[in-house]
Amino acid sequence: MRAVALIPAAGMGKRMGTLISKPFLSIGNRPILAETLLRFEESSLISEVYVIVSSKEEGHSREDIVNKYNLKKVTKIVIGGVERQDSVKNGLDAIEPGCDIVMIHDGIRPFVTPQLIDESIIETQKHDATVVAVPVKETVKRVSYYGEILETLDRNRLWLAQTPQTFNYNIIISAHKNAVENNLRGTDDSSLVEALGIKVKIIAGSYGNIKITTPEDLILAKAFLEDNEHMVSACEPINIG
Ligand code: C5P
Repeated sequence: MRAVALIPAAGMGKRMGTLISKPFLSIGNRPILAETLLRFEESSLISEVYVIVSSKEEGHSREDIVNKYNLKKVTKIVIGGVERQDSVKNGLDAIEPGCDIVMIHDGIRPFVTPQLIDESIIETQKHDATVVAVPVKETVKRVSYYGEILETLDRNRLWLAQTPQTFNYNIIISAHKNAVENNLRGTDDSSLVEALGIKVKIIAGSYGNIKITTPEDLILAKAFLEDNEHMVSACEPINIG
């Protein structure tokens, strides 16, 4: 079984409001992207990792991330595209023949655990398509363009999709091909697979597996790193019993 992880990290990070793009900001002593990639080094089931970055970050990523942290599983640095979906597509196009499973994980989610990575691969061998997710904690409203509530959604059926999102190789290739042919745009890869009518299985994630998007997330991430005990408990999978 050959499992390749694609790590999109080519975003500009406008919501963070910093000059350095998000994956290259430091938390603790290391850049967010290095922290994320180290979790993949610890996985026993991922064979190779392709990091996807913007063209201006290519040299910096090779020297200051891959070489500096001795990331042996990173076998390719791929140049990203305009949107996340384009970046993932470039990663898929770069995969060498003979791949069975593709895992896609945001470069700005450093608190994924090697256990969750390996569980996602094992579950994908059985179900073909899996997404790590957590139940929403708040009540969600659908709102009109004018800021008026149209509908209150049933919270018991709502989950927040995170990454890793993991797929049988042929399925994710077909999903992106279909998206190109039918001009579909999605903010995650699961939505493109769902568009093929394929059932995607949820894997219980953790509330600690945050996507570092805004300045508050950066504060939370730094606090997690300073308090290892709390970080470990925040990153335990939730119990959906
Ligand atoms: O934009 P979003 O928050 O969905 O970004 C999720 C991940 O996708 C980030 O790691 C970001 O760097 C990456 N991304 C990318 N190429 C883009 C936009 C986002 O690789 N064009």
